[in-house]
Amino acid sequence: MGARKIIIDTDPGQDDAVALLLAFASPEELEVLAVTTVAGNVPLELTTRNALTVCELAGRSDVPVHAGCDGPMTGTLKTAEAVHGQTGLDGVELPPPSTAPAPGHAVDILIETLRREPAGTVTLCTLGALTNVATAFARAPDIVERVAEIVVMGGAYFEVGNWSPAAEFNILVDPEAAQIVFRAGRPLTILPLDVTHKALITPDRLAAFGRIDSNVGRAVHGWLGFYERFDMAKYGWEGGPLHDPCVIAYLLKPDLFSGRFINVEVETQSELTRGMTVADWWNVTDRHANATFIGDVDADGFYALLTDRLARL
Ligand code: RIB
Ligand code: CA
Repeated sequence: MGARKIIIDTDPGQDDAVALLLAFASPEELEVLAVTTVAGNVPLELTTRNALTVCELAGRSDVPVHAGCDGPMTGTLKTAEAVHGQTGLDGVELPPPSTAPAPGHAVDILIETLRREPAGTVTLCTLGALTNVATAFARAPDIVERVAEIVVMGGAYFEVGNWSPAAEFNILVDPEAAQIVFRAGRPLTILPLDVTHKALITPDRLAAFGRIDSNVGRAVHGWLGFYERFDMAKYGWEGGPLHDPCVIAYLLKPDLFSGRFINVEVETQSELTRGMTVADWWNVTDRHANATFIGDVDADGFYALLTDRLARL
């Protein structure tokens, strides 16, 4: 069987950058058709610039980067410079990208690609707010059934919120978009904080990245050393959680992860709990299951995969 075709929708962000590198380091398993950017960790101009930088670092400037939505479907944009720095890729000084975004808005590219590729062959991997994907679904409903699977980093249940008391950042940035995607009726796998908070960048794991003698190794070591400080100070852990690479690792080695097929809805009405992912983990409602909600990971296996693959670039 050939490589799995994916589109990575992202808001780099250091953890997004590592997820992109993991995908690029796995060409036998994953064919990255396009990278689409969305505003989130930092504004769209920076997430797009950062995506170009990461593609260039990986030697994959052949992969088109398309800029997408610069804010949520409703409300104003929330950003996370406190975590990622003003550039979104603080921690390492890299030259500006020598390439430019590809022509075509990310939403149009999502629609065109899903209409062009055989139905059921393209997986959407979302690492940021779901605005691009939801806007594409709303504008071109015919593409929804053509999606093979949607794998989302976002949400939280037992771990509660990381950007409000109730909501995880990617969902909180655009709750309406998340609700559209969660209700689209396609195979949906969610990697929430419940699992990413079990994938901590411990000192030994960070040191292993630093031993990769390449520009990629040095960049990942510098990025994560900067990025993790916010959550280490907040939670008092020995390392920060590595969120987005869990999406790509799930595609590469799903057996590293475990979860339940349950109903997951998004709160969009309440001011207090807006963006909360309400996961029926104990099956106490009659709401239909719509998502595989991942709750656990073999963290050592995850980091072994990540370190091994990044060393290939
Ligand atoms: O809450 C963590 C998520 O929000 C990650 O995807 C991180 O990159 C930010 O986008
Ligand atoms: Ca992200």
